[in-house]
Amino acid sequence: MSKIRVDLAERSYDIHIERGLLREIGPRMKALGLKGPAAVITNPTVDALYGKSVTDSLSASGFTPFVINVPDGEEYKSLSEASKVFDILIENRFERKSPIVALGGGVIGDLSGFIAATYLRGVPYIQAPTTLLSQVDSSVGGKTAVNHPKGKNLIGAFYQPRAVFIDPDVLKTLDEREIKAGLAEVIKYGIIRDLEFFSFLEENAKKLLGPGDEIIRCIERSCEIKAEIVGKDEKEENLRAILNFGHTFGHAIEALSGYGSYRHGEAVAIGMAMAAALSARLGLCTECGTRITALLSSFGMPFSPPEIKPKDFIDAMRLDKKVSGAAIRFVLVERMGEVIVREVGEEVLLELLASYARS
Ligand code: NAD
Ligand code: GLY
Repeated sequence: MSKIRVDLAERSYDIHIERGLLREIGPRMKALGLKGPAAVITNPTVDALYGKSVTDSLSASGFTPFVINVPDGEEYKSLSEASKVFDILIENRFERKSPIVALGGGVIGDLSGFIAATYLRGVPYIQAPTTLLSQVDSSVGGKTAVNHPKGKNLIGAFYQPRAVFIDPDVLKTLDEREIKAGLAEVIKYGIIRDLEFFSFLEENAKKLLGPGDEIIRCIERSCEIKAEIVGKDEKEENLRAILNFGHTFGHAIEALSGYGSYRHGEAVAIGMAMAAALSARLGLCTECGTRITALLSSFGMPFSPPEIKPKDFIDAMRLDKKVSGAAIRFVLVERMGEVIVREVGEEVLLELLASYARS
């Protein structure tokens, strides 16, 4: 059982990590001073597994829970789905002090956070993340969003939850593919901030797909690093950008191969290998790429991009970064555990992309 503080003055909150925590969500929310009707936003997959534990716990603590199911899938992280949820909240006279609980993976977390940020100009919300990726990344830090047909997360707000309740036991029902996708973000924290943690991942690679304490250590260290970075730069004016290591390439791969072909974490895994290759090309860390791809491949994770025309790749990265000029900013690895942000010109990017071309 551990508690990690995200220090943001009056918007500070705790990340609680504890086996069996979902069954305790009612008393924990009550202890935060929350009460009344509580909207649990989830999807049918997660609802079938954990909806009842959560609503029973909420009812036993005096809340009136009502469950709102959004279909399962990245394509439902959309304005039209958010609009349907707003209709339900309005029909049920959901008030400004009534809490929302985001029960699910990153899709539900981002969508519910966006709804919480905008409904009645903001209602309290709780993150109850149920995938590894959402436990180590998306539930922490208050980035909320929906996708636009032109790109991921183009519409959203920074809006912090009141607490994050992480129950590692829920990972037992998660597909191995999803665990691996979450591990990509875990590996990211080692690369950007903590060499010792990266070495721990290398040494314990075989145990990380199981439900043992090693995965809890991963969740804790990832949340500590994310909390530290968000505490220093909530709105991504400088330092927080390093959390996007591998994401510029990754988001382009997701967009160009059609959302759903790659899990977000798989695209990030490929993106991290590409960012390491770009770093070596620019004379930064030359051996980091080998270590990163070795670790990714020990989990059977992808590390080479699919065949995409270089120009399309660059256009998609420009859209993701919202830039129109020749250079795009990348997070690059200087040495394992340390990264820098630097603009990279189109010529170098074209060379890198050409190096992946199939003969
Ligand atoms: P996801 O939310 O689609 O969940 C993956 C699948 O696992 C879904 O089918 C879901 O129903 C299922 N599932 C969830 N919990 C389960 C459980 N315990 N047992 C069995 N099945 C379960 O995907 P994800 O990888 O969690 O999240 C990806 C999203 O997160 C993307 O939209 C990405 O943009 C976003 N994201 C946001 C941030 C942020 O800072 N806000 C950071 C990283 C990623
Ligand atoms: N996942 C990147 C961030 O939260 O800033």
